[in-house]
Amino acid sequence: MSSHPSEKQKLSQQLFKIKDLGAILAESHEPGHRLKKALGAFDLILIGIGAIIGAGIFATVGTAAAGDALRLGAGPGIILSFGLTAVVCGFAALCYAELASLIPISGSAYTYSYASFGELVAWIIGWDLIIEYGVGTIAVAISWSGYFRSLLEGLGIVLPVWSTIDFRSAFQGFEKASASLAQGVPFDHLNAGLQNAWAAVHQAPHLFGMPVIFNLPAFLIVIFLTAILVIGIKESTRFTAVMVGLKILVLGFFIIVGSFYVKPEHWVPFAPNGFAGIKAGAAIVFFAYIGFDAVSTVAEEAKNPKRDMPIGIIGSLIICTVIYMVVAAIFTGIVPYDVLRTSLAHQKAEPLVLAMQYIHLNWASGIVAFGSVIAHTAVLLVLLMGQSRIFFSMARDGLLPPVFASVHPRFKTPHVATIMTGLVAASVAAFTNIDEMVDLTNIGTLFAFVLVCFGVIILRVKEPLKHRTFKVPFSPVIPLLGVASCFFLMTGLPAVTWIRFVVWLLIGFVVYFSYGIKHSLLHKTHHTA
Ligand code: ALA
Repeated sequence: MSSHPSEKQKLSQQLFKIKDLGAILAESHEPGHRLKKALGAFDLILIGIGAIIGAGIFATVGTAAAGDALRLGAGPGIILSFGLTAVVCGFAALCYAELASLIPISGSAYTYSYASFGELVAWIIGWDLIIEYGVGTIAVAISWSGYFRSLLEGLGIVLPVWSTIDFRSAFQGFEKASASLAQGVPFDHLNAGLQNAWAAVHQAPHLFGMPVIFNLPAFLIVIFLTAILVIGIKESTRFTAVMVGLKILVLGFFIIVGSFYVKPEHWVPFAPNGFAGIKAGAAIVFFAYIGFDAVSTVAEEAKNPKRDMPIGIIGSLIICTVIYMVVAAIFTGIVPYDVLRTSLAHQKAEPLVLAMQYIHLNWASGIVAFGSVIAHTAVLLVLLMGQSRIFFSMARDGLLPPVFASVHPRFKTPHVATIMTGLVAASVAAFTNIDEMVDLTNIGTLFAFVLVCFGVIILRVKEPLKHRTFKVPFSPVIPLLGVASCFFLMTGLPAVTWIRFVVWLLIGFVVYFSYGIKHSLLHKTHHTA
């Protein structure tokens, strides 16, 4: 009888035992676990921009401005949606910057939670970050595949449709198309998506009686980038730098060329659906900002993290906000709201490409499509890198099998974590649907932001004397505003996304209580001490 409470006490001690900041910093210097310190402030800003500008500005901006069957459009008010979301991300970015300069260790929000809330919350956040980075990778890979296919088609190369779509979307589309055809609707009157799905099911080769339908480009791009990441972080950032340069050039091109065709009357009415439209737009374009926090996942590889982490995180967020608001203004100034609504509902065109086509600059639309593929690639590279760094940190703590924490003897990269991440993300991307993946990425990321904002408040109390090269101003007001505003955006996501998110967290509990709790190094040192 008397041993019962003490067992409980022991458990709760372990679950909430906090990892000492000194120990966290010391571990990163252990041989065999040490990553190469190669990144400067400029590299970190590039990593930030590399992760931020991608599918969000090139793809979701259209739905956010025009709306769809499920949500109101922001119209030209999308410019404000970008501003609103930037403010929410700004609160979180300040908190990330403080924690990244205080704890410059791989693993980002996961590591910060270990030091502020203890092991259980750290596990939850690490598990949650798999949604942000892993599922985010999958969403962007699927979107990449769509634009890559359009780009190839522009060059006259047509891939078989069954090799560029996931089987669920194909079968759902096929059923809808069949129902319409049965009602006498001519095939040519079906929208492009339904025609594609129908063709995919009909043309697919069969293996053991099953149609073979999968997204091959999405699979291959993830595998290719995984190989680059295994070779080295500096090589990867060089590759990122070239892609970041190209995507900024292409967006600059869009802004300059587009500005000659802007008609200010298209900005009236500015917000056709009032604040509700602007808010709905903000919830979608949140995806466009995901990535500034990825800078913090490579903190251990920064040469001077205490100074450069805040510069990388806040700098990349500010640069992207300015670019986004200008692109949104040009986009809505070129294409009238009514045209947007009808065009985007009927064709699956890329919005910025659509804008160039609207002003009859078809040559320019090819350049924008090319920029979009490059932008997606850069985002993928950084998300993949972030995910492998998080696995690496969790394994180093014993919460995941130790093999994930091994560092390649020559390349000095966490090669096993990188290869596993790449293989799983590539395989899932081949078989899943983008819309579900985007919503899930948003909820997982917002939840991570909430915990990071809380983490600042808690560490200010627990570690008041530790030197911070960057401090969030007006704490705890700004961190609390961060918590509230992220939660506000989370409430805007559909119920099914919440359910998926909760199920994912429950699976995480099962993994933790069947593996992590037994192998945790913190737990072992606690017991031997
Ligand atoms: N922010 C990233 C993108 O828009 C995830 O692709």
